[in-house]
Amino acid sequence: MIDTDFKVTPWEVSGDIDYERVVSEFGVSLLDDKIIQSIKKYANEIHPFLKRRVFFAHRDLDWILKEYSQGNKFYLYTGRGPSGGVHLGHLVPWIFTKWLQDRFDVELWFQMTDDEKFFFNNNITLEDANRFSYENALDVVALDFDYKKTIIFSDLDLSGVLYRQAAKIAKKITFSTIKATFGLTENSNIGQIFYTSMQAVPAILKSVIEERNVPCLIPQAIDQDPHFRVARDVLPKLGFNKPAVIHSIFLPGLEQYGKMSASSENSAIFTTDTENEVRKKVMNAFTGGRVSAKEQRELGGNPDVCSVYKYYYILFMLDDSELFEMRSKCINGEIICGECKMILSEKINKYLRHHQEKRDRAKKLLDKYTITEQVDLKGLIDKRR
Ligand code: TRP
Repeated sequence: MIDTDFKVTPWEVSGDIDYERVVSEFGVSLLDDKIIQSIKKYANEIHPFLKRRVFFAHRDLDWILKEYSQGNKFYLYTGRGPSGGVHLGHLVPWIFTKWLQDRFDVELWFQMTDDEKFFFNNNITLEDANRFSYENALDVVALDFDYKKTIIFSDLDLSGVLYRQAAKIAKKITFSTIKATFGLTENSNIGQIFYTSMQAVPAILKSVIEERNVPCLIPQAIDQDPHFRVARDVLPKLGFNKPAVIHSIFLPGLEQYGKMSASSENSAIFTTDTENEVRKKVMNAFTGGRVSAKEQRELGGNPDVCSVYKYYYILFMLDDSELFEMRSKCINGEIICGECKMILSEKINKYLRHHQEKRDRAKKLLDKYTITEQVDLKGLIDKRR
């Protein structure tokens, strides 16, 4: 059964997502071989996320690369709505962002939108959202971003700086645009209506600080696109470039449909999960297996609907020949789901052991990355070098 009622909005991602339809409805461009080859020209390699189209669409990436080739470096901007624990799905765009930072030698500005989570989530206090900004930042730091080139900030704690720009942006956006873009209603709280202008700010922040237009590239999961559609419309009216964006698919949940989601506990593996929790969740995952082991050995499984296979594909079997071998074994009935799930849980646990160590170490390093109002933003990065 195919769920044709999929949804991709910044607040809700559900159903069996038809990415081709998303591309045509959102009006983004697919990442084709040509543009991937031009990324390779500067990066010297093709990240598996590109090869496998985990990052699959963009706006104006060709422009970013052209500017880069002429010595006009871009900076990266991405973010996180800190509402609870970080799960593996959140790591996908961040891992890629880290690769971009290394390969292109560029800055990253990382926004923690504690205000957003407060406006959109009825179960979180402002104080908790703010606290989660720094909890979640540990997972960002654990991915080894270079602190000399990385700035992490919470909307609440950098509000003075951000609000100055958000006000200019907000004045150029009408309620009817926001209503139409995000499906808000007369009953939506007015923080929600304002919020997009806050998410647009980091796309111009470096330009404001440096008093010249600096190209900005925003890696993100595709659900964030509506914010930047609005931002790309209004920022030129204020004299800024349109930011470029590059979109990833979602890491699916371990259940049959939908993305990995923090609100559906069993579908998500959190970065702080214990080995037993991981094993339990993976063992309960939806697969393309048959009703019995006997039938599976005779008829084979179906990797194309299997969530375990999707985890291999996206994150845990980045070597093509290893993946291909696993796929063949599944189709030929040479491996059954129980064994395959054991292999995945071990891979995830190995990854998490390492991540958790680095996350622990990040507690001491966090101050090197984060900034608040008291810091002079001009020349900030120069001082770190
Ligand atoms: N709104 C995003 C979320 O809920 C957080 C975010 C802010 C973001 N700025 C961003 C994500 C830029 C990607 C790119 O998670």
